[in-house]
Amino acid sequence: MKISILGGTGNIGKGFALRMSKKHEVIIGSRNAEKAKASAAEYNDILANYGMEPGITGTDNKTAAEHANIIFLAIRYENIPSIIDLIRPVLDKQIIISVVVPMAKDRCHIQHDASPLMIDVPKEDYYVNYFCYTTPPAGSAAQEIAMLLPEGTELVASFHNVPSHNLADLDAELNYDVGVCGNSEHSKNIVSDLVRDIPNLRPLDVGPLETSAMVESLTPLIINIASRNRLKNIGIKFV
Ligand SMILES: NC(=O)c1ccc[n+]([C@@H]2O[C@H](COP(=O)([O-])OP(=O)(O)OC[C@H]3O[C@@H](n4cnc5c(N)ncnc54)[C@H](OP(=O)(O)O)[C@@H]3O)[C@@H](O)[C@H]2O)c1
Repeated sequence: MKISILGGTGNIGKGFALRMSKKHEVIIGSRNAEKAKASAAEYNDILANYGMEPGITGTDNKTAAEHANIIFLAIRYENIPSIIDLIRPVLDKQIIISVVVPMAKDRCHIQHDASPLMIDVPKEDYYVNYFCYTTPPAGSAAQEIAMLLPEGTELVASFHNVPSHNLADLDAELNYDVGVCGNSEHSKNIVSDLVRDIPNLRPLDVGPLETSAMVESLTPLIINIASRNRLKNIGIKFV
């Protein structure tokens, strides 16, 4: 497979690049081709230190998307529309993977009259200090992305609950389950195989793209649990 990672210079993009390059051709995408090339060189140095083939390349996001079979959207939710606008002209038969989680800390906003159970709460809106899922109008980030993509584009939502630090640490054992959501069994099977390419990750079919909100929203839950209980790099495992 030729796998392009848009936002491949970022936290989670680095982990995908390092982990996917063992079996696939990996292209880093960035808004700035020089930055992508610098990241590719840095990642190749890491691979070389592990005795692995250092074949990662870097280019601008549009060129990266054009030359791929698989496109990881490894960028933040708010930057999605501009990226989709950029790559739309070069989309043909690529499978798109959304790892995007819309979440916020300071915007966890509770309205005083939101629930009849809150009669004792002071009559003013207030904010609470934890990460919460910020549900997009379409239901999930993946459903928003589906609306922006040309009709017929295959989109899979996955990898939301894997911590970037461990993904990018080739010594780290990744003992996690990875939900896979999408409307095409064909593309879900391909993405599940990509999950299996990473040792100790288990792909689990969650259902159609409509189920992606449930999986996306697990990420702020994981981060809240990690920070309150001093747990590092935790993920999801169904036992
Ligand atoms: N971090 C995690 O542990 C984790 C886990 C699961 C899922 N995710 C999801 O993965 C996505 C990326 O997270 P991240 O932590 O890797 O993000 P990040 O490092 O903050 O950003 C990723 C890349 O986005 C690009 N970018 C920044 N501003 C942009 C803009 N205005 N337009 C287009 N591209 C822009 C940058 O690349 P260039 O400057 O090179 O263009 C940056 O390297 C998010 O949607 C997140 O919810 C993250």
